[in-house]
Amino acid sequence: MEREQHVPIDPDREVTVCCGATEGLNLALLSLVNPGDRVLVFEPFYENYLPNLVTCGGMPEFVLLEPPHWHVDEMQLRQAFQKGIKVVILNSPANPTGKVWNYDELKLLAQLCLEYDAYVITDEIYEYIVYNGKHISMMALPGMKDRTIVVNGFSKTFCVTGWRLGYTIAAPVLTEAMRKIHDFLTICAPHPLQVAAVTAMNFAGDYFRNLAQDYRRKRDLLFPALEAIGLQPVLPQGAYYIWTDSRSIDRDGEVAARHLAQFAQIAAVPGKCFSCPDRDLVSGLRFCFAKKDSTLEQAVQNLAHFKVQLGRQ
Ligand SMILES: Cc1ncc(COP(=O)(O)O)c(C=O)c1O
Repeated sequence: MEREQHVPIDPDREVTVCCGATEGLNLALLSLVNPGDRVLVFEPFYENYLPNLVTCGGMPEFVLLEPPHWHVDEMQLRQAFQKGIKVVILNSPANPTGKVWNYDELKLLAQLCLEYDAYVITDEIYEYIVYNGKHISMMALPGMKDRTIVVNGFSKTFCVTGWRLGYTIAAPVLTEAMRKIHDFLTICAPHPLQVAAVTAMNFAGDYFRNLAQDYRRKRDLLFPALEAIGLQPVLPQGAYYIWTDSRSIDRDGEVAARHLAQFAQIAAVPGKCFSCPDRDLVSGLRFCFAKKDSTLEQAVQNLAHFKVQLGRQ
């Protein structure tokens, strides 16, 4: 946080190592949200956020962002805040959209948080997978240090998604509250993994640069194949997912996902997994390109065959 975002942190009082960003998110929500509190969630959202809100009794207030730009509308945002938001869940770079929040968007959100006395829980697990420019943490915005909980982890940066090793960064008063829960939830993250993570954090700078370059190559391998079958993919600015519109296969993203699994041996996740449960029909499909190049090359071939079959229908 100090090196990348120039925010001085006291590791003893402001950092809590935990079992993945998954635990970190739960700690942040359980410590800030009382039953009935409103929590702003940008949709499409990472699918864990809603079950996590059920656990702490938070009431989601959705703000829908739309492809291809996932533009944040000030009026829409202000209207949500006027309903009495206590906490905002922010995820940048985002799963599933690939949106990377820019400085002006973060500034707008920060201003509203200051005006309406709201906190931000910012899930920054894809911080090093950004294709243009650099990730900006909400914690680095003026006035936001003490009302932001950063949730981060090692899964994505070091390709160890099964390890579930993460951490939170927050002001001492928030950290104290989270540690009370952490102590009785998991006590601590496995020690050998923590030792390994220290080694990883000290990797040379080019490790972090190569990471984004590697994923860019993978993104650029899969993207044209999705375009060719009419899925109107949205070029992600970060993270390793591509959001598409399922309608060239089926209006319902779930039906389209089944077709793809059956006829192209490709697993995509239906958009409704990332949407407000009341939304009727979601024509979205998310593809993940965190795969070996050979797997992606096979997927491209399968999609080409699938396209021929689609043309015959
Ligand atoms: C946005 C986001 N947050 C958190 C996680 C989970 O993080 P961890 O592996 O550290 O529990 C994921 C994993 O897919 C994710 O996409």
